[in-house]
Amino acid sequence: MDEDPTANEYRQVLEVAHRHAQAWLDEVAERPVRPELDVDGVLARLRRDLPEDGIGSVEVVEELVEASAPGLMAMGSPRFYGFVIGGAYPAALAADWLVSAWDQNTGSRQPTPATAAVEEVAAAWLLELLDLPRGSGVGFATGATSANLSCLVAGRDAVLRARGFDPVVDVRRAPRVRFLAGGAVHTSVVLGGRISGLGAPETVGADEQGRIDVEGLRRALAAEDAPTVVALQAGDVHSGAFDDFEAAVGVAHEAGAWVHVDGAFGLWAAASPRLRGLTAGMSDADSWATDAHKTLNVPYDCGVAIVRDEAAMTASLGAHAAYLPAVASVSDPYDRVPELSRRARGVPVWAALRSLGRRGVADLVDGLADAATALAGGFRAIDGLEVLNDVVFTQVCLASSDDGATAALGEWLRVEGTVWASSSHWQGRTVVRFAVSNRGTDAAAVRRTVDAVARGAAAVGIGG
Ligand SMILES: Cc1ncc(COP(=O)(O)O)c(C=O)c1O
Repeated sequence: MDEDPTANEYRQVLEVAHRHAQAWLDEVAERPVRPELDVDGVLARLRRDLPEDGIGSVEVVEELVEASAPGLMAMGSPRFYGFVIGGAYPAALAADWLVSAWDQNTGSRQPTPATAAVEEVAAAWLLELLDLPRGSGVGFATGATSANLSCLVAGRDAVLRARGFDPVVDVRRAPRVRFLAGGAVHTSVVLGGRISGLGAPETVGADEQGRIDVEGLRRALAAEDAPTVVALQAGDVHSGAFDDFEAAVGVAHEAGAWVHVDGAFGLWAAASPRLRGLTAGMSDADSWATDAHKTLNVPYDCGVAIVRDEAAMTASLGAHAAYLPAVASVSDPYDRVPELSRRARGVPVWAALRSLGRRGVADLVDGLADAATALAGGFRAIDGLEVLNDVVFTQVCLASSDDGATAALGEWLRVEGTVWASSSHWQGRTVVRFAVSNRGTDAAAVRRTVDAVARGAAAVGIGG
């Protein structure tokens, strides 16, 4: 019997894609981390008039790889420290491929039972691993930005409801909801405030590591009796510092506020017996946002929104329409994120957790923190450089006494290509910021990184 031509085309094109993917994965740890070409360079290869006629799918993939490969950043390299970005575990990557092949729209449970069930198991495992209230609502969002937004919307509505207002019906009559945050609040929480209508957060101050000023929070709460959402932070993007949750959650709850925790990468400290002290008191909050595409090393896009009161989450984010299949009394995945249609992005989370187990996740988190500590130790031994933050988790901010030289060091490193780290400004200083988020950042990667930084420092005239 002749083979179905469509099936044959899938086979051929996926084999080609597999070959290219494997070639990339084979070289990603050793190739220069930076891309060879910038956006304009790739555009020069790719830009053309919209073709009138198409070409075969194998040719499409070959053309795509040929044109874009020189513009790929080795974000999966163990020496990539930009943003807060991890690699991808093999099981998670393979599951992600299956998610695309299966092409299940995992918005509602009923039509996609397999992926909905896998996500439900992943959600339950996450709550256990992160020691958050069992039975909380869990939504798989695109990233921590949309997870923060989901939680802030749930909090906004809940504090209005607590004062007798229906957030939908009384939208004009309802009082303004106050939005308070520490002085080092992450930009994604600020964006969440903007989109949710909470507005810009009133910042209540922070200490030198970025931890919220609890007395400042107390004073701000006492200054006005209003429905209030407070955003706390597990893992400052520069220092890795964690807010004092035991104190801050208590103060906020005494005032009747909703407490949200942005733990894009820091929430994962709770999965490590050694590091979970950093998160003491965190589970008393009302909502939490994190990323699996950061610390857990699953492919993008995968954030997680968690709300203690699932009903509050679905009341704010739930969608209803006659054509949408729904089972009374059970919420659907689309009731917990700001999307109706979406890929089954919780499936790679299940795969990563299944391949690692509880112990494997703890080892992963400890390994990232150990690598950050080792980096900081190596950097401190280089003449003319200092580590500005207390390295409590996975972030290291490096500086020299001369801001210009520090900026030059960051640029030198990114061009040289052994490592890639972001330049930033922190505590009034120019810094090179290392975020350890890749499972492969081992002792050898740390040694090569420290060596590159030493060579870079000498090249730009730091020390000596
Ligand atoms: C503390 C914190 N919150 C939120 C975010 C936003 O996460 P995402 O880029 O996944 O939306 C980040 C990203 O680095 C972060 O570090």
